Amino acid sequence: MNLRVAVLKGGRSFERQVSLKSGARVEDALERLGHQVIPIDIGPQLVSQLTEAAPDVAFVALHGPEGEDGTVQELLEAMGIPHTGSGVSACIRASDKVLAKHAMRDRGIPTPDFFAFSETAFKDLGAAQALPAIEQRLEFPIVVKPAGQGSALGIKFARTAADVPTALVAAFSYDRKVLLERHIVGRDLAVSVIDETEGPRALPVVEAVPKDEDFYDFEARYEIGRTSFVCPAEIDEATAARAAELGRDVYELLGCAGFARVDLMLENATGELYVLEANAIPGLTETSLLPQAAEAAGIGFDELVGRIIAAAQPAAAGTAR
Ligand SMILES: Nc1ncnc2c1ncn2[C@@H]1O[C@H](COP(=O)(O)OP(=O)(O)O)[C@@H](O)[C@H]1O
Ligand SMILES: [Mg+2]
Repeated sequence: MNLRVAVLKGGRSFERQVSLKSGARVEDALERLGHQVIPIDIGPQLVSQLTEAAPDVAFVALHGPEGEDGTVQELLEAMGIPHTGSGVSACIRASDKVLAKHAMRDRGIPTPDFFAFSETAFKDLGAAQALPAIEQRLEFPIVVKPAGQGSALGIKFARTAADVPTALVAAFSYDRKVLLERHIVGRDLAVSVIDETEGPRALPVVEAVPKDEDFYDFEARYEIGRTSFVCPAEIDEATAARAAELGRDVYELLGCAGFARVDLMLENATGELYVLEANAIPGLTETSLLPQAAEAAGIGFDELVGRIIAAAQPAAAGTAR
């Protein structure tokens, strides 16, 4: 069926450039699939642009705050426009690492130990004085990261107590809430999950191998060649099956829909898997992991986009169109 599809991309998030790339690639695929594409670089005119365009469906190709945290989804649902990917509540849960990690821990899904604090805890309650106790419980190095964001933005590894304050300042520049997390020495894995009629399906595991740095930063992640991706990851069958299971469990736990990607660490010393986070709208660029995983499962990019559109969330019940 030929649809009018508004592709929402760009925005003001730090991940704007990645989103523009994801969006452009999605637009090409939609055109090849015979749909009519209405590209929208989101901004203050979003609602009026959507009203004028009156699309059958919106493809949300946004990453980071606003696009991935449920804000845009809420607007689309209010306007009665069906949209791709997860609904508002799953976006809220997945985009907040603290919420997601609490949900995982409560459900018995392994995630690295952590403590999370808001700015107010430091400003008004002297949380800094609790740092020695936290450092003792988590052991160095400690990973310090903002609750929101993505693409490794604001993430620092503190090797000693002296590194912690600077790392906290960096993380607080991205979010009002930050977490201190146990560092896992191991391999960086990702499980992409897509909806199928039988339920969520985990695609082959991808391993991200940084080429130069011991930690792949924002640039390295998106610049072709600085990180190599191995798909399917060279891990034993039991580990791959466990990773797939954790990917599906987290997807269901957070209530994701359409597609999502779950990031994990495989600990060298123990062979244990730990879930770091879930991404409600993972990248769809040439170098992104979900398209690579789909490819490895025999699902080409156009087919992937077609499936994501077919699974688009109907507009919230009760809203007139
Ligand atoms: N606790 C941790 N132990 C080891 N490496 C980590 C840890 N947390 C994050 N990292 C590294 O930082 C990357 C980004 O972290 P992640 O939590 O997935 O946040 P985001 O992708 O949203 O920036 C991970 O893929 C991993 O390489
Ligand atoms: Mg990640």
